[in-house]
Amino acid sequence: MNFPVITGVGAYYPEDILTNDDISKMVETNDEWIVSRTGIRERRILKDKPTSYMAVKAIENLLEKTNTKPEDIDLLILTSVTGDRPVPCTANIVMDRAGLTNAYGFDFQAACSGFVFGLEMAKNYCMSGRYKKIILLGADKMSSITNYEDRNTCILFGDAAGCVLIEPSEDPTYGIIDTQMHCDNSGLENLNVKNGGSEFPLTLETLAENRHYIYQEGAKVFVKAVKGMADVCVEMMERNQITKDTLDWIVPHQANKRIIDATRERAGVDESKVMINIQKYGNTTNATIPLAIWEYEGQLKKGDNLIACAFGAGYNWGGAYIKWAYDPK
Ligand code: UT7
Repeated sequence: MNFPVITGVGAYYPEDILTNDDISKMVETNDEWIVSRTGIRERRILKDKPTSYMAVKAIENLLEKTNTKPEDIDLLILTSVTGDRPVPCTANIVMDRAGLTNAYGFDFQAACSGFVFGLEMAKNYCMSGRYKKIILLGADKMSSITNYEDRNTCILFGDAAGCVLIEPSEDPTYGIIDTQMHCDNSGLENLNVKNGGSEFPLTLETLAENRHYIYQEGAKVFVKAVKGMADVCVEMMERNQITKDTLDWIVPHQANKRIIDATRERAGVDESKVMINIQKYGNTTNATIPLAIWEYEGQLKKGDNLIACAFGAGYNWGGAYIKWAYDPK
């Protein structure tokens, strides 16, 4: 059998930092409000380069750490809401620049749930037996769709990329054990980028309305996000007979510290078991989960029980139960 195992993790974040104080000079807000409502203190901003730049850097980091040759990768699954161009796939650009000469690859988009949806997808590709080294990558340059005159959204987002290597194993004990995705499609108007697609192509008039930037009814999304993230985390625990004591790590999408706290409370676990880095990066959309795993990798032990969970526009949400497969290297 080809059981899907995560064998490495890579990431990249840009050097430039945008602090809450910096944002307070752009819109009517302040550090105290942002920290207390979101947990975010600063975020990284990629200047003058596209999303693919961060994606290539994250892959280079992954290949180096796992001692893998770029030509040995046979599949790149890239999830992003801020691809370089509408056409071609950002995956094509990334494969070219990262030297993935023997891979096939593609982009898909599932808003902030992309990485967790991608775990389900990568799991199935791996189990098909046709792919031996799969990279699942989430990357977003959220600053490219953020309106820095809108205080409802500009405090939230940052730029980063993260990825994992997934390989088949004969041992069913470790790897991506279980996944569950959900959509209820009830939030189409509450979190979106209205213009720039086929419904409202960009014109000079639509540009002037700023509707090519991300828009969010924060309070409405918040209520659904708390429920979706917590529900799917508990769903994964119950279905896999994981208790608050045997759960080692929650890996939550980093959209708001209060949503993360609510998820943790529903799961009944201590804060020390939750990967949190929202204070440094904000919401990097498809990069949050791999970036968190990357930062905590040194604390992960073989056999640890991880549950990753995410919630995003649409609405959609999902969870993945991962049995970690290696000790710190
Ligand atoms: O990743 C995808 C999913 N996204 C999420 O999960 C995000 C979910 N939503 C949230 O995280 C929160 O709703 C926000 C952080 C976006 C907003 O926090 P909130 O506690 O829900 O605030 P609110 O939108 O209800 O606004 C409360 C007040 C309003 O003022 P009034 O109408 O009560 O006078 C806002 O105008 O806070 C005001 N406000 C701000 N004040 C200072 C909104 N943004 C700001 C700001 N600084 N940046």
